[in-house]
Amino acid sequence: MRILITFARAYPWQTLIMVVAILVSGVVEGFGLTALLPLVALAGAEDIMGSKGAAVKRVVNEVLYSLGLSPSIGLLLSIVLGGIVLKSCLLMFANRRVGYMVARITTDLRLQLLRALLATRWEYFVGQRIGKLASAFGNEAGRASTAFLGGARMAALAVQAVVYAGVALLVSWKATLVALSGGVLILFTLRRLVQRARDAGKRQTQATKALVSRLTDSFLSIKPLKSMAREYLADAVLVRETTRLNRALKKQIFAKEALRGFQEPVLTAFVLLGLYVLLVWWQMPIADLLVLTVLLGRVVNQLGKIQLQYQEMGTSESAYWSLQQTIEGAEAEKETTLGSKVPSLIRGIRLDRVTFAYGDRTVLRDASLAFPGGSFTAIVGPSGVGKTTVVDLVIGLLRPQKGEVWIDDLPLTEIDIKQWRRMIGYVPQEILLLHDTVFINVTLGDRDLTEQDVEQALRAAGAWDFVAAMPQGMLSTVGERGSGLSGGQRQRIAIARALVHDPKLLILDEATTALDPATEAAICATLRDLRGALTILAISHQTAILGAADRAYRLQDGVATLVADHSDVSWPAGGGQDDTSVTTHTAPRKVG
Ligand SMILES: Nc1ncnc2c1ncn2[C@@H]1O[C@H](COP(=O)(O)OP(=O)(O)O)[C@@H](O)[C@H]1O
Ligand SMILES: [Mg+2]
Repeated sequence: MRILITFARAYPWQTLIMVVAILVSGVVEGFGLTALLPLVALAGAEDIMGSKGAAVKRVVNEVLYSLGLSPSIGLLLSIVLGGIVLKSCLLMFANRRVGYMVARITTDLRLQLLRALLATRWEYFVGQRIGKLASAFGNEAGRASTAFLGGARMAALAVQAVVYAGVALLVSWKATLVALSGGVLILFTLRRLVQRARDAGKRQTQATKALVSRLTDSFLSIKPLKSMAREYLADAVLVRETTRLNRALKKQIFAKEALRGFQEPVLTAFVLLGLYVLLVWWQMPIADLLVLTVLLGRVVNQLGKIQLQYQEMGTSESAYWSLQQTIEGAEAEKETTLGSKVPSLIRGIRLDRVTFAYGDRTVLRDASLAFPGGSFTAIVGPSGVGKTTVVDLVIGLLRPQKGEVWIDDLPLTEIDIKQWRRMIGYVPQEILLLHDTVFINVTLGDRDLTEQDVEQALRAAGAWDFVAAMPQGMLSTVGERGSGLSGGQRQRIAIARALVHDPKLLILDEATTALDPATEAAICATLRDLRGALTILAISHQTAILGAADRAYRLQDGVATLVADHSDVSWPAGGGQDDTSVTTHTAPRKVG
């Protein structure tokens, strides 16, 4: 039930419109049905009508007379029909609203999850299982709205049941109360089936999450498995998860079908028994009995349907809560936007006695590094030593536990982090080109960028010659993931992609590692040409980059040592090891 309240709170207006439409439709139908009583009377059965039935008949007749109408069989039949037609129209309207809302809830939940995830801290984000998120996005968002649908239908049926029961009460409160309590008692005994479906639904949510997680893991690591003919290992794992899911679904289907199967005969038997009692023991007048049968039959039938929808809601509900948990988890890990100052990056970037640990794994210990503005600095060191960590600290994806990152004389904690990142061009190690044109691969779909911007970036990246030689220039497609290009060419496209926004800082994280020495040397030469106009920070576990850079740090055991400095800047003064303020430094060297 909590889920219905949650949705009603999130969509108050839509819920109100829906509820009013359902309510009015119930009342309209109820009025149509009360016309049955005078109808029976007009059909000549007045003498067999009970006192209550006669009372209802009188009220209906009075209403009709006051409207200037005299009750006739035709009119009364029309009222019954009109009531049903109007009810159907209103319900159709309400159901359409429900349908729209179902679609909207799915979309809103997906967007909410997406936005929450995109805004999370980097450390949190990289720790998330892709499969869990994919499952939340697809399966859980869809099933969450199914839960809402079940709940909304349940509410609609309940309103109608109340109206029928209300009219039935007017005819015979005793019979109605007996029918209602009997119906509720029967549903109560069948509640185990509802609970079973709900449990199976929970298991479905868990199993789907596990399956999709396994699936994405397996697909991402399929190449070694296939190369060593070990696909069956992935197959075995996936079969296990799929079987688990299948078991949950089977239980769910059993519970649903059992409920449906048991409900109808049991409820019908109950109604027939009631008829027998009313007819034989109470000797109720036929006319009242007729109307009561229609009304109470409906009430009891409605109660059964309410339970089915309740079961449906219960089965899917766990998906909503699981999704909600993922969303709330992500929202709690929102990246804090630090300050509001806008950096300019003229003098340089400095890590001052920075200590950083992933959990209890300390990667940097009191490390100090400086990247003077306009210079080309390299960081070398073996794999796993913390080079990427340094870069992520500079970008502000990670925050140091101790020490400070400075951009000129502003600490990163006082800087508007988005503004800072907009000044960065980033080239990762794994380059993913889109199956699209060179142009789109450079702009990534940013419509503000023109062909001129792209040409300029391609030239700066040393890619213009080979792009211009392609059949349609920058409008040529690069093939699936860039398969039409060599490794060095793909790398240059990626550098152009980083340069096209006119960054102040260009970061290459092992971007040249996978290249052959000649191509790496060519790219290093390109970088040498670019420095001065921008600050370059290149990372490598190879040493080729050392020859090209102005300065180089070697990272080892959590500390950085300056191993080469061909630049004529001494920034910050004293090598930056001792002072914590960045007030005494010279202007950056301009090269190129
Ligand atoms: N998200 C993370 N959680 C825990 N440990 C991590 C995480 N990222 C990196 N590490 C660990 O931190 C160390 C430094 O990682 P990284 O900076 O990526 O090294 P490099 O780029 O020099 O290869 C590695 O030993 C790695 O295992
Ligand atoms: Mg790395």
